[in-house]
Amino acid sequence: MDVLDLRAVPHIALASGESIPSIGMGTFGSDKYGPQPVADAVAGAVRFGYRLFDCASVYGNEDLIGKVFEEAFAAKAVRREELFITSKVWNDMHGPEKVHASINKTLQDLRLSYVDAYFVHWPFPNYHAPGCEGDARNPDSVPFSLDRFMIAWEQMEAIYDRGLARHLGMSNMTIPKLETVLPRCRIKPCLIEMEQHPSFQQQALFDYCKAKGITVIGYCPIGSPNRPERDKAPGDVVDTGLPEVAAAAKAHGIHPALVCLKWAVQRGSIPIPFSVHEENYQSNLRSVTEDPLTPDEMEQLKKAERNCRLVKGQVFLWPGAQGWEDLWDMDGNITQ
Ligand SMILES: NC(=O)c1ccc[n+]([C@@H]2O[C@H](COP(=O)([O-])OP(=O)(O)OC[C@H]3O[C@@H](n4cnc5c(N)ncnc54)[C@H](OP(=O)(O)O)[C@@H]3O)[C@@H](O)[C@H]2O)c1
Repeated sequence: MDVLDLRAVPHIALASGESIPSIGMGTFGSDKYGPQPVADAVAGAVRFGYRLFDCASVYGNEDLIGKVFEEAFAAKAVRREELFITSKVWNDMHGPEKVHASINKTLQDLRLSYVDAYFVHWPFPNYHAPGCEGDARNPDSVPFSLDRFMIAWEQMEAIYDRGLARHLGMSNMTIPKLETVLPRCRIKPCLIEMEQHPSFQQQALFDYCKAKGITVIGYCPIGSPNRPERDKAPGDVVDTGLPEVAAAAKAHGIHPALVCLKWAVQRGSIPIPFSVHEENYQSNLRSVTEDPLTPDEMEQLKKAERNCRLVKGQVFLWPGAQGWEDLWDMDGNITQ
Protein backbone atom coordinates (compact mmCIF):
# COMPACT_ATOMS: atom_id res chain seq x y z
CA MET A 1 0.00 0.00 0.00
CA ASP A 2 1.15 3.48 -0.92
CA VAL A 3 2.12 5.52 2.17
CA LEU A 4 3.20 9.13 2.19
CA ASP A 5 6.27 10.51 3.94
CA LEU A 6 4.39 12.29 6.74
CA ARG A 7 7.27 14.67 7.38
CA ALA A 8 6.50 16.30 4.04
CA VAL A 9 2.99 17.42 5.08
CA PRO A 10 3.14 21.08 6.19
CA HIS A 11 1.74 22.03 9.59
CA ILE A 12 0.33 25.25 11.04
CA ALA A 13 0.86 26.52 14.60
CA LEU A 14 -2.43 27.26 16.37
CA ALA A 15 -2.83 30.09 18.88
CA SER A 16 -2.78 27.37 21.56
CA GLY A 17 0.80 26.55 20.54
CA GLU A 18 -0.26 23.18 19.17
CA SER A 19 0.27 22.11 15.62
CA ILE A 20 -2.36 21.09 13.09
CA PRO A 21 -1.82 19.52 9.64
CA SER A 22 -2.29 22.03 6.84
CA ILE A 23 -4.75 19.70 5.06
CA GLY A 24 -7.37 17.28 6.30
CA MET A 25 -10.15 15.07 5.04
CA GLY A 26 -13.82 16.03 5.01
CA THR A 27 -16.38 13.40 5.95
CA PHE A 28 -19.69 14.79 4.65
CA GLY A 29 -21.05 12.34 2.10
CA SER A 30 -23.12 15.14 0.48
CA ASP A 31 -26.29 13.00 0.76
CA LYS A 32 -24.64 10.95 -2.03
CA TYR A 33 -22.41 8.54 -0.15
CA GLY A 34 -23.73 6.54 2.80
CA PRO A 35 -21.83 6.15 6.07
CA GLN A 36 -19.91 2.97 5.15
CA PRO A 37 -18.09 4.27 2.04
CA VAL A 38 -17.11 7.40 3.97
CA ALA A 39 -15.82 5.33 6.91
CA ASP A 40 -13.90 3.07 4.49
CA ALA A 41 -12.31 6.18 2.96
CA VAL A 42 -11.31 7.40 6.44
CA ALA A 43 -9.68 4.02 7.09
CA GLY A 44 -7.72 4.25 3.85
CA ALA A 45 -6.82 7.87 4.53
CA VAL A 46 -5.44 7.07 8.01
CA ARG A 47 -3.28 4.34 6.46
CA PHE A 48 -2.08 6.68 3.74
CA GLY A 49 -1.10 9.45 6.17
CA TYR A 50 -4.04 11.83 6.78
CA ARG A 51 -3.93 13.06 10.34
CA LEU A 52 -6.79 15.62 10.36
CA PHE A 53 -10.45 14.59 9.99
CA ASP A 54 -13.41 16.98 9.86
CA CYS A 55 -16.43 15.24 11.37
CA ALA A 56 -19.89 16.39 12.47
CA SER A 57 -22.86 14.74 14.14
CA VAL A 58 -25.15 15.80 11.28
CA TYR A 59 -23.05 13.86 8.75
CA GLY A 60 -24.64 10.73 10.23
CA ASN A 61 -21.50 8.61 10.11
CA GLU A 62 -19.58 9.30 13.33
CA ASP A 63 -20.39 5.85 14.72
CA LEU A 64 -18.76 4.06 11.77
CA ILE A 65 -15.84 6.49 11.65
CA GLY A 66 -15.34 5.87 15.38
CA LYS A 67 -15.02 2.16 14.67
CA VAL A 68 -12.31 2.96 12.12
CA PHE A 69 -10.37 5.06 14.63
CA GLU A 70 -10.68 2.37 17.30
CA GLU A 71 -9.39 -0.30 14.93
CA ALA A 72 -6.52 1.93 13.75
CA PHE A 73 -5.43 2.55 17.36
CA ALA A 74 -5.74 -1.15 18.23
CA ALA A 75 -3.66 -2.11 15.19
CA LYS A 76 -1.09 0.56 16.14
CA ALA A 77 -1.50 2.11 12.69
CA VAL A 78 -1.60 5.48 14.43
CA ARG A 79 -1.70 6.79 17.99
CA ARG A 80 -4.64 8.90 19.23
CA GLU A 81 -2.39 11.88 19.91
CA GLU A 82 -1.19 11.85 16.31
CA LEU A 83 -4.69 12.55 14.99
CA PHE A 84 -6.49 15.91 14.99
CA ILE A 85 -10.19 15.03 15.04
CA THR A 86 -12.87 17.70 14.90
CA SER A 87 -16.63 17.53 15.30
CA LYS A 88 -19.52 19.99 15.41
CA VAL A 89 -22.70 20.54 17.36
CA TRP A 90 -25.71 20.59 15.03
CA ASN A 91 -28.23 23.42 14.98
CA ASP A 92 -30.95 21.55 16.88
CA MET A 93 -28.64 21.10 19.90
CA HIS A 94 -27.87 24.73 20.89
CA GLY A 95 -30.26 24.91 23.85
CA PRO A 96 -29.51 24.56 27.59
CA GLU A 97 -27.69 21.28 28.34
CA LYS A 98 -28.04 20.19 24.73
CA VAL A 99 -24.47 20.97 23.67
CA HIS A 100 -23.30 18.73 26.51
CA ALA A 101 -25.60 15.98 25.29
CA SER A 102 -24.31 16.47 21.75
CA ILE A 103 -20.63 16.10 22.58
CA ASN A 104 -21.34 13.10 24.78
CA LYS A 105 -23.04 11.38 21.85
CA THR A 106 -20.24 12.37 19.47
CA LEU A 107 -17.53 11.08 21.83
CA GLN A 108 -19.46 7.86 22.29
CA ASP A 109 -19.87 7.45 18.51
CA LEU A 110 -16.28 8.39 17.67
CA ARG A 111 -15.10 6.16 20.56
CA LEU A 112 -12.90 8.94 21.90
CA SER A 113 -12.40 10.58 25.28
CA TYR A 114 -11.88 13.99 23.65
CA VAL A 115 -12.00 15.74 20.28
CA ASP A 116 -9.20 18.03 19.19
CA ALA A 117 -11.66 20.75 18.24
CA TYR A 118 -15.40 21.16 18.71
CA PHE A 119 -17.30 23.62 16.51
CA VAL A 120 -20.65 25.36 16.57
CA HIS A 121 -21.69 24.24 13.07
CA TRP A 122 -23.96 27.25 12.28
CA PRO A 123 -24.63 30.36 14.38
CA PHE A 124 -28.41 29.74 14.25
CA PRO A 125 -30.52 27.08 16.03
CA ASN A 126 -32.28 26.49 12.69
CA TYR A 127 -32.22 23.06 11.14
CA HIS A 128 -33.58 21.16 8.21
CA ALA A 129 -34.57 17.56 7.69
CA PRO A 130 -31.70 15.39 6.35
CA GLY A 131 -31.69 15.30 2.55
CA CYS A 132 -34.29 18.08 2.24
CA GLU A 133 -35.03 20.05 -0.95
CA GLY A 134 -33.56 23.51 -1.50
CA ASP A 135 -36.92 25.24 -0.98
CA ALA A 136 -37.61 23.51 2.36
CA ARG A 137 -38.11 25.93 5.28
CA ASN A 138 -38.56 25.25 8.99
CA PRO A 139 -41.20 27.63 10.41
CA ASP A 140 -39.43 27.54 13.80
CA SER A 141 -36.33 29.20 12.32
CA VAL A 142 -35.15 32.46 13.88
CA PRO A 143 -32.58 35.16 13.06
CA PHE A 144 -29.24 35.32 14.87
CA SER A 145 -29.38 36.33 18.54
CA LEU A 146 -26.27 36.99 20.61
CA ASP A 147 -27.91 35.82 23.84
CA ARG A 148 -29.12 32.62 22.22
CA PHE A 149 -25.68 31.97 20.71
CA MET A 150 -24.03 32.48 24.09
CA ILE A 151 -26.22 29.77 25.65
CA ALA A 152 -24.50 27.38 23.26
CA TRP A 153 -21.04 28.95 23.54
CA GLU A 154 -20.97 28.89 27.35
CA GLN A 155 -21.60 25.15 27.16
CA MET A 156 -18.75 24.92 24.64
CA GLU A 157 -16.50 26.65 27.17
CA ALA A 158 -17.53 24.19 29.88
CA ILE A 159 -16.75 21.32 27.50
CA TYR A 160 -13.29 22.83 26.95
CA ASP A 161 -12.82 23.23 30.73
CA ARG A 162 -13.63 19.55 31.20
CA GLY A 163 -11.03 18.56 28.60
CA LEU A 164 -13.61 17.04 26.26
CA ALA A 165 -12.53 19.40 23.47
CA ARG A 166 -8.96 20.61 23.25
CA HIS A 167 -9.87 23.62 21.09
CA LEU A 168 -13.11 25.43 20.28
CA GLY A 169 -14.30 26.59 16.89
CA MET A 170 -17.13 28.36 15.10
CA SER A 171 -18.34 27.82 11.55
CA ASN A 172 -20.31 29.83 9.00
CA MET A 173 -19.66 33.09 10.85
CA THR A 174 -19.45 36.62 9.43
CA ILE A 175 -17.34 39.57 10.56
CA PRO A 176 -20.37 41.38 12.11
CA LYS A 177 -21.30 38.27 14.09
CA LEU A 178 -17.71 37.72 15.24
CA GLU A 179 -17.44 41.37 16.29
CA THR A 180 -20.49 40.87 18.50
CA VAL A 181 -19.63 37.45 19.83
CA LEU A 182 -15.87 37.57 20.46
CA PRO A 183 -15.98 40.14 23.30
CA ARG A 184 -18.46 37.88 25.13
CA CYS A 185 -16.31 34.74 24.84
CA ARG A 186 -14.36 33.70 27.94
CA ILE A 187 -12.61 31.16 25.72
CA LYS A 188 -12.10 32.45 22.18
CA PRO A 189 -12.40 30.19 19.15
CA CYS A 190 -9.02 28.92 18.00
CA LEU A 191 -10.42 27.85 14.61
CA ILE A 192 -13.06 29.16 12.24
CA GLU A 193 -14.45 26.96 9.47
CA MET A 194 -15.74 28.76 6.39
CA GLU A 195 -16.43 28.09 2.73
CA GLN A 196 -13.26 28.79 0.76
CA HIS A 197 -12.22 27.97 -2.80
CA PRO A 198 -10.66 30.01 -5.64
CA SER A 199 -14.00 31.47 -6.78
CA PHE A 200 -14.98 32.34 -3.17
CA GLN A 201 -11.90 33.44 -1.29
CA GLN A 202 -13.57 35.39 1.56
CA GLN A 203 -10.45 37.55 1.78
CA ALA A 204 -11.89 40.03 4.32
CA LEU A 205 -13.08 37.32 6.73
CA PHE A 206 -9.85 35.38 6.21
CA ASP A 207 -7.76 38.48 7.04
CA TYR A 208 -10.00 39.27 10.03
CA CYS A 209 -9.45 35.79 11.48
CA LYS A 210 -5.73 35.98 10.85
CA ALA A 211 -5.51 39.33 12.66
CA LYS A 212 -7.32 37.78 15.65
CA GLY A 213 -4.95 34.78 15.73
CA ILE A 214 -7.70 32.42 14.56
CA THR A 215 -6.74 29.67 12.12
CA VAL A 216 -9.04 29.10 9.15
CA ILE A 217 -10.31 25.73 7.93
CA GLY A 218 -11.70 26.01 4.41
CA TYR A 219 -14.62 23.83 3.37
CA CYS A 220 -15.67 22.96 -0.19
CA PRO A 221 -12.02 23.56 -1.17
CA ILE A 222 -12.48 22.04 -4.64
CA GLY A 223 -15.81 23.79 -5.16
CA SER A 224 -17.82 20.78 -3.99
CA PRO A 225 -18.72 19.39 -7.43
CA ASN A 226 -20.98 16.70 -5.89
CA ARG A 227 -22.74 18.89 -3.33
CA PRO A 228 -26.41 18.18 -2.57
CA GLU A 229 -28.94 19.46 -5.11
CA ARG A 230 -30.29 21.98 -2.56
CA ASP A 231 -26.88 23.70 -2.70
CA LYS A 232 -26.82 24.02 -6.51
CA ALA A 233 -28.06 27.23 -8.16
CA PRO A 234 -28.01 28.64 -11.69
CA GLY A 235 -24.88 30.72 -12.16
CA ASP A 236 -22.73 28.76 -9.70
CA VAL A 237 -19.11 28.72 -10.83
CA VAL A 238 -17.17 25.46 -11.35
CA ASP A 239 -13.82 26.14 -9.71
CA THR A 240 -11.96 23.40 -11.56
CA GLY A 241 -13.05 24.99 -14.88
CA LEU A 242 -11.83 28.52 -14.10
CA PRO A 243 -9.16 29.70 -16.57
CA GLU A 244 -6.79 30.77 -13.76
CA VAL A 245 -7.05 27.30 -12.17
CA ALA A 246 -6.84 25.48 -15.49
CA ALA A 247 -3.69 27.42 -16.50
CA ALA A 248 -1.85 26.41 -13.33
CA ALA A 249 -3.07 22.81 -13.70
CA LYS A 250 -1.71 22.68 -17.22
CA ALA A 251 1.64 24.17 -16.21
CA HIS A 252 2.05 21.55 -13.45
CA GLY A 253 0.48 18.67 -15.37
CA ILE A 254 -2.05 18.00 -12.58
CA HIS A 255 -5.83 17.87 -12.11
CA PRO A 256 -7.32 21.35 -11.41
CA ALA A 257 -8.64 20.02 -8.05
CA LEU A 258 -5.04 19.81 -6.87
CA VAL A 259 -4.39 23.43 -7.83
CA CYS A 260 -7.26 24.44 -5.52
CA LEU A 261 -5.64 22.53 -2.65
CA LYS A 262 -2.09 23.81 -3.22
CA TRP A 263 -3.50 27.35 -3.43
CA ALA A 264 -5.36 26.95 -0.11
CA VAL A 265 -2.37 25.55 1.76
CA GLN A 266 0.09 28.09 0.34
CA ARG A 267 -2.36 30.85 1.26
CA GLY A 268 -2.37 29.66 4.88
CA SER A 269 -5.77 28.07 5.31
CA ILE A 270 -6.51 24.39 5.90
CA PRO A 271 -8.51 22.69 3.13
CA ILE A 272 -10.55 19.61 4.03
CA PRO A 273 -11.30 17.95 0.68
CA PHE A 274 -13.68 15.01 0.60
CA SER A 275 -13.46 11.93 -1.57
CA VAL A 276 -14.29 8.27 -1.17
CA HIS A 277 -12.00 7.44 -4.07
CA GLU A 278 -8.53 6.29 -3.04
CA GLU A 279 -6.79 7.77 -6.07
CA ASN A 280 -8.35 11.17 -5.36
CA TYR A 281 -7.83 11.37 -1.61
CA GLN A 282 -4.27 10.11 -1.93
CA SER A 283 -3.38 12.65 -4.62
CA ASN A 284 -5.04 15.40 -2.57
CA LEU A 285 -2.72 14.84 0.39
CA ARG A 286 0.32 14.24 -1.77
CA SER A 287 -0.30 17.41 -3.75
CA VAL A 288 0.58 19.68 -0.83
CA THR A 289 3.91 17.94 -0.27
CA GLU A 290 5.43 18.60 -3.70
CA ASP A 291 5.67 20.96 -6.66
CA PRO A 292 4.26 24.17 -5.12
CA LEU A 293 2.55 26.90 -7.15
CA THR A 294 4.84 29.78 -8.07
CA PRO A 295 4.36 33.25 -6.56
CA ASP A 296 3.11 34.38 -9.97
CA GLU A 297 0.52 31.56 -10.08
CA MET A 298 -0.62 32.47 -6.56
CA GLU A 299 -1.01 36.07 -7.77
CA GLN A 300 -2.97 34.95 -10.85
CA LEU A 301 -5.27 32.83 -8.67
CA LYS A 302 -6.36 35.95 -6.79
CA LYS A 303 -8.14 36.81 -10.04
CA ALA A 304 -10.20 33.61 -9.83
CA GLU A 305 -12.41 35.33 -7.22
CA ARG A 306 -16.02 35.36 -8.52
CA ASN A 307 -17.81 35.93 -5.18
CA CYS A 308 -19.51 32.58 -5.74
CA ARG A 309 -20.86 31.22 -2.46
CA LEU A 310 -22.00 27.62 -3.00
CA VAL A 311 -23.46 26.74 0.42
CA LYS A 312 -25.95 29.59 0.55
CA GLY A 313 -27.81 28.11 3.51
CA GLN A 314 -31.29 29.17 2.38
CA VAL A 315 -32.83 26.17 4.17
CA PHE A 316 -31.99 27.94 7.45
CA LEU A 317 -33.97 31.10 6.67
CA TRP A 318 -36.58 32.29 9.14
CA PRO A 319 -40.12 33.48 8.32
CA GLY A 320 -39.91 37.02 6.93
CA ALA A 321 -36.31 36.71 5.72
CA GLN A 322 -35.77 38.09 2.22
CA GLY A 323 -33.27 35.61 0.82
CA TRP A 324 -30.12 33.61 1.55
CA GLU A 325 -28.06 36.84 1.66
CA ASP A 326 -29.74 37.55 5.03
CA LEU A 327 -27.66 34.75 6.58
CA TRP A 328 -24.41 36.43 5.63
CA ASP A 329 -24.81 40.06 6.84
CA MET A 330 -23.89 41.44 3.42
CA ASP A 331 -24.30 45.12 4.38
CA GLY A 332 -22.01 44.83 7.40
CA ASN A 333 -24.83 44.56 9.96
CA ILE A 334 -26.34 41.44 11.49
CA THR A 335 -29.59 40.86 9.61
CA GLN A 336 -32.58 40.52 11.92
N1 LIG B 1 -18.80 23.65 8.24
C1 LIG B 1 -19.69 23.48 7.29
O1 LIG B 1 -20.81 24.03 7.33
C2 LIG B 1 -19.36 22.61 6.11
C3 LIG B 1 -20.12 22.73 4.94
C4 LIG B 1 -19.77 21.93 3.84
C5 LIG B 1 -18.69 21.05 3.93
N2 LIG B 1 -17.98 20.93 5.10
C6 LIG B 1 -16.82 20.02 5.21
O2 LIG B 1 -15.95 20.24 4.11
C7 LIG B 1 -15.68 18.99 3.47
C8 LIG B 1 -15.35 19.22 2.01
O3 LIG B 1 -16.41 19.85 1.34
P1 LIG B 1 -17.17 19.16 0.13
O4 LIG B 1 -17.08 17.70 0.29
O5 LIG B 1 -18.52 19.76 0.05
O6 LIG B 1 -16.41 19.72 -1.13
P2 LIG B 1 -15.00 19.48 -1.85
O7 LIG B 1 -14.05 18.81 -0.95
O8 LIG B 1 -14.64 20.79 -2.45
O9 LIG B 1 -15.41 18.53 -3.05
C9 LIG B 1 -15.58 17.17 -2.86
C10 LIG B 1 -15.76 16.52 -4.20
O10 LIG B 1 -14.60 16.76 -5.01
C11 LIG B 1 -14.24 15.59 -5.70
N3 LIG B 1 -12.78 15.40 -5.61
C12 LIG B 1 -12.06 15.27 -4.47
N4 LIG B 1 -10.76 15.12 -4.77
C13 LIG B 1 -10.65 15.15 -6.13
C14 LIG B 1 -9.57 15.05 -7.01
N5 LIG B 1 -8.32 14.90 -6.60
N6 LIG B 1 -9.84 15.11 -8.35
C15 LIG B 1 -11.11 15.27 -8.79
N7 LIG B 1 -12.18 15.37 -7.98
C16 LIG B 1 -11.96 15.32 -6.65
C17 LIG B 1 -14.90 14.44 -4.99
O11 LIG B 1 -15.45 13.62 -5.98
P3 LIG B 1 -15.27 12.02 -5.87
O12 LIG B 1 -16.09 11.64 -4.68
O13 LIG B 1 -15.82 11.57 -7.16
O14 LIG B 1 -13.82 11.72 -5.70
C18 LIG B 1 -15.93 15.05 -4.08
O15 LIG B 1 -17.25 14.70 -4.43
C19 LIG B 1 -16.94 18.17 3.74
O16 LIG B 1 -16.74 16.80 3.52
C20 LIG B 1 -17.21 18.53 5.18
O17 LIG B 1 -16.36 17.79 6.04
C21 LIG B 1 -18.28 21.73 6.16
